[in-house]
Amino acid sequence: MKIIITGTNGQVGHALVGALTNHEVISVNRKQCDLINQDQILRMIDSYQPDLIINPAAYTRVDQAEDEPELAFKINADAPKLIAKKALECHIPFIHFSTDLVFDGKKKSPYCESDSTNPLGVYGASKLAGEEAILKVGGQAYIFRTSWVYSDIGHNFYLTMKRLSQKKDELNVVSDQVGVPTSSYFIAAQIQKIIPQLNQVNPGIFHLVPNGHSSWYEFTKEIIIKTNPGFDITKIYPIKAEEYPSRARRPLNSILENINIKKAFMLEFEDWQSELKKI
Ligand SMILES: NC(=O)c1ccc[n+]([C@@H]2O[C@H](COP(=O)([O-])OP(=O)(O)OC[C@H]3O[C@@H](n4cnc5c(N)ncnc54)[C@H](OP(=O)(O)O)[C@@H]3O)[C@@H](O)[C@H]2O)c1
Repeated sequence: MKIIITGTNGQVGHALVGALTNHEVISVNRKQCDLINQDQILRMIDSYQPDLIINPAAYTRVDQAEDEPELAFKINADAPKLIAKKALECHIPFIHFSTDLVFDGKKKSPYCESDSTNPLGVYGASKLAGEEAILKVGGQAYIFRTSWVYSDIGHNFYLTMKRLSQKKDELNVVSDQVGVPTSSYFIAAQIQKIIPQLNQVNPGIFHLVPNGHSSWYEFTKEIIIKTNPGFDITKIYPIKAEEYPSRARRPLNSILENINIKKAFMLEFEDWQSELKKI
């Protein structure tokens, strides 16, 4: 299959390029196609004539989005809408990614795909607008919501905690926010298994996260045990989210239920700790 992948300098884009080696991959970064430029998007699709488009590129700066809503909506809603329209016109499938931050965190159990959305910040609202626009266009569009993405490249919680544990003797970490840590390599490996099944499974929204869930505090302990065994983990202290104020509000619970994706695409997932071990 000839596949365009956007955002290939990002965590998920990079992992996808590494995983989809059995396909003809056209790797597109921001320099080659800036998603705020609609003409560039159309030209890219027209010139490569792909069999599938995968769009992990996104405006992902959650706090900064509060000050740049227009830009966030252009990249996270307008661009995916245009790609979806073009994919429909070309009769090809479209894979897009969304986020746990479409939810407000008030639910006391894991979120299903059909649960009501209510983003607390601009980033979540822009990603939700992207989901809605794609679904409205229709066609063969698959939206994979994921959460707490980390990798050994880029900017993410895993690398930050690994680095901080090498610089500091003690760490305070939020323990009352829960979600599912998700490795970019887990996402790419599942997308590789999903691609051959795209014609057999109805399009729509799916939650793509490994099994289990964690708080940032528990996640930090696992990261440090595995990457810096010399660090005294009794010196990692739990704090409340309200003690670590940030520009954007985030849900206290954003655990995504992954039953539907496993059933629809006949996938077996491991827990997030096993995925962390692989990195
Ligand atoms: N990171 C998370 O914790 C998380 C959680 C849930 C869902 N998601 C979703 O998962 C997907 C992949 O996220 P990720 O973690 O791989 O993000 P990432 O590492 O921040 O990568 C995003 C990529 O998008 C590119 N990009 C940004 N603006 C662009 C523009 N105007 N034109 C073209 N490319 C642009 C960036 O390019 P540069 O490298 O040039 O900046 C970057 O390579 C996104 O849809 C994201 O919303 C992420």
